[in-house]
Amino acid sequence: MTTHPVMPAPVHYSPQNGHFELTESTRIHATGTALSVADHLAKALRPATGFALSIDESDNADAGTPNTIALTIGTTALPSPGYLLTVDESRVELRADDAAHLFTAVQSLRQLLPTAIEATTVQAGPWLIPGAEISDYPRFVYRGAMLDVARHFFAVADVKRYLDRMALLKLNVLHLHLTDDQGWRLHIDSWPDLTALGATTAVGGGSGGFYSKADYTEIVEYAASRFITVVPEIDVPGHTNAALAAYPELNADGAAPAPYTGIEVGFSSLSIDKEVTYQLLDDVFREVSELTPGPYLHLGGDESLATSDEDYLEFIRRATRIAASHGKTLIGWHEMGRSRDLPEGTIGQYWSFVTPRDDADKRVASFIEQGGRMIMSPADAIYLDMKYASEEALGLEWADGPTTLHDAYHWDPAAIVVGVTDDHILGIEAPVWTETIDNLRDLDYMAFPRIVAAAEIAWSPREGHDWAGFTQRLADWSPRLDAAHINYNRVSDVNWPAPADPK
Ligand code: ACM
Repeated sequence: MTTHPVMPAPVHYSPQNGHFELTESTRIHATGTALSVADHLAKALRPATGFALSIDESDNADAGTPNTIALTIGTTALPSPGYLLTVDESRVELRADDAAHLFTAVQSLRQLLPTAIEATTVQAGPWLIPGAEISDYPRFVYRGAMLDVARHFFAVADVKRYLDRMALLKLNVLHLHLTDDQGWRLHIDSWPDLTALGATTAVGGGSGGFYSKADYTEIVEYAASRFITVVPEIDVPGHTNAALAAYPELNADGAAPAPYTGIEVGFSSLSIDKEVTYQLLDDVFREVSELTPGPYLHLGGDESLATSDEDYLEFIRRATRIAASHGKTLIGWHEMGRSRDLPEGTIGQYWSFVTPRDDADKRVASFIEQGGRMIMSPADAIYLDMKYASEEALGLEWADGPTTLHDAYHWDPAAIVVGVTDDHILGIEAPVWTETIDNLRDLDYMAFPRIVAAAEIAWSPREGHDWAGFTQRLADWSPRLDAAHINYNRVSDVNWPAPADPK
């Protein structure tokens, strides 16, 4: 069994003799587009080491200067874009095909350092990096996590902390579920009551909250500095009670419902016949698209149980055209595949089970036949809001009961729908729905360690997946979570030899 300290498992890792010692006189070398990544590395190393490492950006050849960490963007000749990382006694070399993969190389380097590097206060060294040769590239280009900020709202600072956790695991997409029955969480200038009235509640009756445009931009920019793309979701035509409560004219009967603080689904629908609905969509999709530099806009489309088949298809036809007119590639939950009239290349997000139910496989085929690809999020494997065990306080159980770490690791995105292989799969995404979760500590607990399994499925080659090895590596790795003050579940999976809680 290969053990190594990097999560998710690299494609190729080979330990070498000796080690590199990071000291206060270690120099980081980088030029051009590698500089921002070098700056991120220097900042990441500072709290625990106390070293203010200098970045040397001189163009003249750097080859051979000792006590150097050199970051280079240039071809790696790997089968797909990735990075090479070598550590010897004199130098650490990181080479990647682009800045995004150089950033992933930095995450690997961080994990080669002692666990104490994750601390936020100065720790004693020595800061030894074991000799190593790594060549590595991801299986999927889209490696996502989703946060439902509608059922419970999460402040900008908490979203940033979650982005930091994602970056460590080489996840590169944050999908924000911004609207639902319980709350509308992004200010829209042309429809101000969406937030003035529609953001004042949450599940259980809390005070809700919303992102101003400046808040949202702060999240997007923080994500971008970690090479993470934000995908905004405006879930329509169902899951819209918050909007319907704010604007009576969006309701078929013209009467606004009361705000909703429960956790049922499938009871709300925008009016399908009224033109005002499409005016709303045009304004919202335009404003959200303008705020969002990433290529995607997620339209939801799930669980529209209060919308007839005929109405649903007409709505999706019009809504997708309006959304596409604002220049984004569309994503919809797999139900949207009921439509055979999607804009070319619309991406589906699968949220049925590891064994498909209710024609979910047919919906997947529909997206692919219409030129799209899939994001795989099977609920019984990768919905991080499912309970770890029935007796746990946090989480839900509707996806066939609890989801253990074993469940989270034992699935393959290309083995769910017959004929849907890696070529049809853009990537995977681990959602956290927040019916029972309203703070970062609980969010961390639900995510970790299952999100590490998700990251390994997203990044590492299929043939490298190995439960015994994974759990051993995770046990070795998890003190890093303690050092970073990340809460996690230690006990629910008997197969995971987690260390005892140090607190
Ligand atoms: C979903 O879980 N309704 C996408």
